[in-house]
Amino acid sequence: MPFPIHRPRRLRSSEPMRRLVRETALDPADFVLPLFVVEGEGIRKEISSMPGNCQLSRDELLKECAECKALGIGGVILFGIPDHKDEEASQGYAPQGIVQRAVRAIKDNVPGLLVITDVCNCEYTSHGHCGKIVDGDVDNDITLGWLAASAVSHARAGADIVAPSDMMDGRVAAIRRALDEAGFPKVPILSYAAKYASVFYGPFREAAESAPQFGDRRSYQMDPANGREALREIALDLEEGADMIMVKPAMPYLDIIRMARDRWDVPLAAYQVSGEFSMIMAAARNGWIDQERAMMESLTAIRRAGADFILTYFAKPAARLLG
Ligand code: PBG
Repeated sequence: MPFPIHRPRRLRSSEPMRRLVRETALDPADFVLPLFVVEGEGIRKEISSMPGNCQLSRDELLKECAECKALGIGGVILFGIPDHKDEEASQGYAPQGIVQRAVRAIKDNVPGLLVITDVCNCEYTSHGHCGKIVDGDVDNDITLGWLAASAVSHARAGADIVAPSDMMDGRVAAIRRALDEAGFPKVPILSYAAKYASVFYGPFREAAESAPQFGDRRSYQMDPANGREALREIALDLEEGADMIMVKPAMPYLDIIRMARDRWDVPLAAYQVSGEFSMIMAAARNGWIDQERAMMESLTAIRRAGADFILTYFAKPAARLLG
């Protein structure tokens, strides 16, 4: 017999051939762009560790949203940075809070753009933790009330989807019940179901001014060493009524994305977090890596692992490239 009989290279011989057999495609509709909103006007303050991403005042946020819509991007997820932080995260669930006003403005000015809100307290607490501090740790059950109130206020402002990222136990059930009681049974919950205590959130905490002032988040976010525990977290959130689930970060956790994809048929999101973005940008700026190719390869890998959609700071440049 002649050797080799099987020549996989036959199907890689030209770009048309490769395109024919390509298994994974990217689409701007599958990207969600995280945006940071601040008080004021005319503010577009670049986040030094996240080139091209800015803290935006509401007027500038609207321009960014209009651009996302024009590029066919799937949606935006909003993070608020209030002027005033306190022990009780009160601006997180204030009816006229920064995110609530931003959602209303987007709904009025950029109709048709999908708006997701991140539901968490760390941007609103003076200590930077994701909930009420009791005896030096975040108290789970008191925090649930804040989260439910935030989610309802976001829905009232017009949010299309609420996405709790706090990792408190029972938050999905608490939010579902509160939304239903407040008359928002149709607003879905995208749960950050498997969210790890990751060093890759570093740049985000600069962007959101949300670094914990003492300790860390390891008593509520997951241990990076655990995979099976992620499946348990996801199962619990689905039992509690999550409509969609998320794995976060993305590229260091492709195994978790794949396990979740194989096990459940609900829409699965992955968050390519700030540190993942910043590493690629830093290497590219040093001339060590090609930015466009690293961007597209990382997004393709996350989709191939099984994510249906990706929260990514590359949403605009990737959409432009695909367009
Ligand atoms: C809020 C929240 C964080 C991120 C998303 N929602 C920060 C954190 O948990 O410390 C990180 C996103 C990123 O790094 O891009 N809890």
